[in-house]
Amino acid sequence: MKALHYLTAILLLFSCSSLKQNADRVFDRAVVQFTALDARLAPDAMPVTFEKGEVRDGKLNDWTSGFFPGSLWLVYEHTGNPDILEMAKRQTAKLSGITEMDTDHDIGFQVNCSFGNGYRPTGNPDYLEIMKASADKLCTRFSPVVGCTRSWNPGKKWNFPVIIDNMMNLELLAEVSRLTGEQKYMDIARSHANTTLKNHFRADGSSYHVVAYDEQTGEVVKKQTSQGFSDESTWSRGESWALYGFTMMYRETGDSVYLEQARKVAAYLIPLLPKDGIPEWDFNAPGTKNAFGMDAAGAPKASDYKWKPGDPVLRDSSAGAIIVSALAELSTYTSGKESRLYRKTALRIVNTLASPEYLATPGENGNFLLKHGVTNLHKWSGVDIPLTYADYYFLEAIQKLLKTE
Ligand code: GLY
Repeated sequence: MKALHYLTAILLLFSCSSLKQNADRVFDRAVVQFTALDARLAPDAMPVTFEKGEVRDGKLNDWTSGFFPGSLWLVYEHTGNPDILEMAKRQTAKLSGITEMDTDHDIGFQVNCSFGNGYRPTGNPDYLEIMKASADKLCTRFSPVVGCTRSWNPGKKWNFPVIIDNMMNLELLAEVSRLTGEQKYMDIARSHANTTLKNHFRADGSSYHVVAYDEQTGEVVKKQTSQGFSDESTWSRGESWALYGFTMMYRETGDSVYLEQARKVAAYLIPLLPKDGIPEWDFNAPGTKNAFGMDAAGAPKASDYKWKPGDPVLRDSSAGAIIVSALAELSTYTSGKESRLYRKTALRIVNTLASPEYLATPGENGNFLLKHGVTNLHKWSGVDIPLTYADYYFLEAIQKLLKTE
């Protein structure tokens, strides 16, 4: 028995020191890579990815624009590096006019990651003003009939689409509600989360990507996919957004309904993770453990889908990073074996992401941190590339794991 205790203690010590070692290596690498990224960025652009040997930047209203400033704030918090602080302030300032820009539901991602992370160490009242104005803008997308904020504007395919990703935008509403004491933001966040909980999930905890509503009646019209393999498959980044979104809603409200949903999502996805912990781009893509056939409803035609039996199934490092960040937190809201499983899974993923297979060497990978992400394999675009949001959630995840050691 005593020997078992010693062994557990040694194993714990080993996993702690390796987390610390991984953290130091990753944050040192981030300083080098991001300094180079910062130096080459135009005043009206933010980094998105590096594809076919070329850097691809996005406009300031792109959904990804908050992740680079956000990553800089996270690196500053970890390292205290004054040069990084200057970069974080400068890159964040580029988004100051965001409420005047043409944006959608992702203003939550954009502003909470940049100004939200900047407000924590600086307490800058201007940042809070922008967060509040952005939360107000997000609330204009809310329909009390549907009970949700509209994700994308009406289009040919859907009139009132709500995507599972939208759970992430609720964090801005929750933060602003907490910081200003105004309940209305949290009421909208709760309504959106409750409606999503009711309509976006199957009995096993897997999620639909897009649920389209009738704006007049609030009825569900369609359940489909945009970035996953098929309408009935489970897109791994979408499922990761769900895990994170409901964990975050539990943190912000203390409502056990959200905790239960997060646990259900975790119970679905953890057994499907490959040995090294990095999810395949869709949990039902051909070649995965739970693969659907190529003729699955809503799947691309075989001729459009450049995968054949025997090919490796592409992984999505961004989904892996989001899962770590969510599990690091969920492990603190649960106990015993369950809590240990979440933390162990999170550490397993971090070990892989911090290895040379995934972590870029200095100067490579367009100066992003992580390799092997997937944007939209359904359309065969953005395949096996770095992604600014993979970097952001990886840094955030490591910080959460360190804080809860
Ligand atoms: N929110 C868009 C994506 O996850 O690709």
